[in-house]
Amino acid sequence: GIPKFVKIVEVGPRDGLQNEKNIVPTSVKVELIRRLVSSGLPVVEATSFVSPKWVPQLADAKDVMKAVCDIEDARLPVLTPNVKGFEAAVAAGAKEVAIFASASESFSKSNINCSIEESLARYRAVCLAAKEHSVPVRGYVSCVVGCPVEGAIPPSKVAYVAKELYDMGCFEISLGDTIGVGTPVKHWPLGILSHFSLAQKIDSEVRIPSTLAGVVVAQIPKLSMFQMGISTVDSSVAGLGGCPYAKGASGNVATEDVVYMLNGLGVKTNVDLAKLMLAGEFISNHLGRQSGSKTAVALCRV
Ligand code: HMG
Repeated sequence: GIPKFVKIVEVGPRDGLQNEKNIVPTSVKVELIRRLVSSGLPVVEATSFVSPKWVPQLADAKDVMKAVCDIEDARLPVLTPNVKGFEAAVAAGAKEVAIFASASESFSKSNINCSIEESLARYRAVCLAAKEHSVPVRGYVSCVVGCPVEGAIPPSKVAYVAKELYDMGCFEISLGDTIGVGTPVKHWPLGILSHFSLAQKIDSEVRIPSTLAGVVVAQIPKLSMFQMGISTVDSSVAGLGGCPYAKGASGNVATEDVVYMLNGLGVKTNVDLAKLMLAGEFISNHLGRQSGSKTAVALCRV
């Protein structure tokens, strides 16, 4: 049946803000993270320790982390593409990290400038270092349905990369439909998850960008994902986001919309929707545009 509790991993401060044209001041990022945590979200991805040449929007990762690492009410993972990033993250106070591989060779090249196999070798080194520091590692697989360059990605490739990440020590694998081309029955959950003998073993979970297909997925078949034992979802406050290295990435499903739907289903998330909406309003005001959350737009007219 449907789980009683769904864990929401908030990715707005990282995945959301990495793609903003105008660089958001550190103080605004820190305030956003604090507001998201105080809404009750159990996990808030804070930033990335990646090359500032590749993602200038997150060049202040160290300052952001130093300002939030005292927070104890939520886990605050950060992205680390290599050991250099891992060491910088730990030095700044990060207690959890995430590594991000791709099921598409072309996307791997354009996002992290190496092949899938090279990335897995780097990530094994990160996992070894993380083990020494007792730092938990979350794994991402990008382009699990389609890639902006290669088109359809075979599910067997997704399963291979996910298993490699799992075997090197990731406690959780996030399957990212990076450009939002997944459709309910074909891809989620029957298409992809049927290739996962892993599905029982790991708390794999799904990121759903808010394209048309994504919206359908987000509202109906998520029920069936939950029925298959998936009880973790990545989402982004105000629907912020989209990867700078994935042309066509249309952003993520809004956390407000996920919480609203789960509230309606009677599934607990521990998130206070009113406080979450204020966090969404805070960042949307700062960015000077309307929230990408349908719930936020609808409820403010009621
Ligand atoms: P590279 O240019 O191949 O790396 O980049 P390099 O090892 O040749 O180093 C080049 C320069 O970067 C050197 O500096 C390094 O020191 C520096 P220089 O000597 O030229 O002054 N460098 C670093 N600096 C800071 N932190 C580091 C670091 N590593 C090297 N960790 C690299 C390779 C992986 C570093 C680069 O491609 C990169 O940083 N990529 C990150 C891209 C990114 O963050 N993309 C968005 C996140 S992924 C995503 O959003 C998808 C996801 O949400 C799931 C989904 O939805 O699909 C996760």
